Amino acid sequence: MKLDAMNRRNFLRTSLAVAGAAIFPAAGGVPGPEIRLKQGERLRIELENLLPSDTTVHWHGVRVPNAMDGVPQLTQAPIRANGGRFLYEFAVPDAGTFWYHPHLGSPEQVGRGLYGALIVEERDPPAVDRDSVWMLGDWRLDRRAHSVEDFGNFMDASHAGRIGNSVTVNGAIRESLELRSGERVRLRLINAANARIFGLNFRNHDPLVIALDGQPVTVHRPEGGRVVLGPSMRADVLVDATGEPGSTYSVIDDFYENRAYRLLDLKYSPTRARGRAGTQPPMLAPNPLSEPDLASAQRHRVRFEGGMMGRMPGGMMGGMMGGKHRMAWSVNGRALGEHDHGGEPLLTLAHRRSHVIEVVNDTSWHHPTHLHGHVFRVLTRNGKPTAYREWQDSVLLDPHGRAEIAFVADNPGDWMFHCHVLEHQASGLMAVLRVA
Ligand code: C2O
Ligand code: CU
Ligand code: CU
Repeated sequence: MKLDAMNRRNFLRTSLAVAGAAIFPAAGGVPGPEIRLKQGERLRIELENLLPSDTTVHWHGVRVPNAMDGVPQLTQAPIRANGGRFLYEFAVPDAGTFWYHPHLGSPEQVGRGLYGALIVEERDPPAVDRDSVWMLGDWRLDRRAHSVEDFGNFMDASHAGRIGNSVTVNGAIRESLELRSGERVRLRLINAANARIFGLNFRNHDPLVIALDGQPVTVHRPEGGRVVLGPSMRADVLVDATGEPGSTYSVIDDFYENRAYRLLDLKYSPTRARGRAGTQPPMLAPNPLSEPDLASAQRHRVRFEGGMMGRMPGGMMGGMMGGKHRMAWSVNGRALGEHDHGGEPLLTLAHRRSHVIEVVNDTSWHHPTHLHGHVFRVLTRNGKPTAYREWQDSVLLDPHGRAEIAFVADNPGDWMFHCHVLEHQASGLMAVLRVA
């Protein structure tokens, strides 16, 4: 079903394919339907939950009012299995590349492919010859191409998360993608994997990053020529097709040492296009974000602990928390279960004030750390100022790394702050920040 921005009612259906199939398609496919609208427009979508389990939908990176954020218990009641409905309706303040996914039972629901792209077009979009979305997925499949049914296991939770064995672009394992010499492509990369980090090399091409997590950034070449995306992160990249007609170039993912593989080939058609390759790169207009005032900002510190080869928070290893979800991680000494949003928030941030949060990763693992409802400037990573003070909604923390982020707490409500390795999120790397 086609979805677009309008005042009509839309249905986003989630359904379970025949028992035993590899995936839950959203509206019949993986990824789910791409939603495209213009900056400032309203999105109105009713979710009809045909899954055999409860769910919610989160609009990742979109600064929505709290009640539309799709976090079970915290912002809404779970949408019941087998026919529950919920109406999501909000305006989209920022242009950019966003996505949607469930926020309940995430390791399994997202791991089965329930997600889609949410593209908000600029009022005055930059001139390119093609605008393409690559939604990167990662699957743990058995030899019959069925999902291995070990979602949320403690081994994944306490290590790097569910890293799979089959990477897809827009739901398929692709051999190649057609390109015409002379074209300029705006490639919207979205990492929808539960846990895999990507490091993409466009061999023989010179990609330019124009936006990160949907937010415009100073146009730049990625560090080391490689576009690095932790889970949930996005990059808009300009790729000029400067190769020769008829030739083939590989896109390589070599994020993990000694595990490089070919994501796909860029295959040039035999004829040349009269395109925009090589012309001045466009500047994207900034989104209406409030600039934090560092001089008056309140400072906070958040520390992640736990995981294998790390200090485990007291008593948690033995499954003290009960239920099927054992905690493997903690935030400032506390571990929240996925459905356990009661109690006091980790931090209460004064509404409309500027805040700097230093996030310290006291573990041996990467954590792409995401904040709901706001977009922050990344001031420093590992003690060094960032090159572009990029606006992001997620920051990739290196093992034993740290980052300082700054933002104006201008969106009131209780907001999730969590690692987007979904197995980490479900086993303690999650907290609530209250803006009041
Ligand atoms: Cu993309 Cu709290 O999530
Ligand atoms: Cu989010
Ligand atoms: Cu993590």
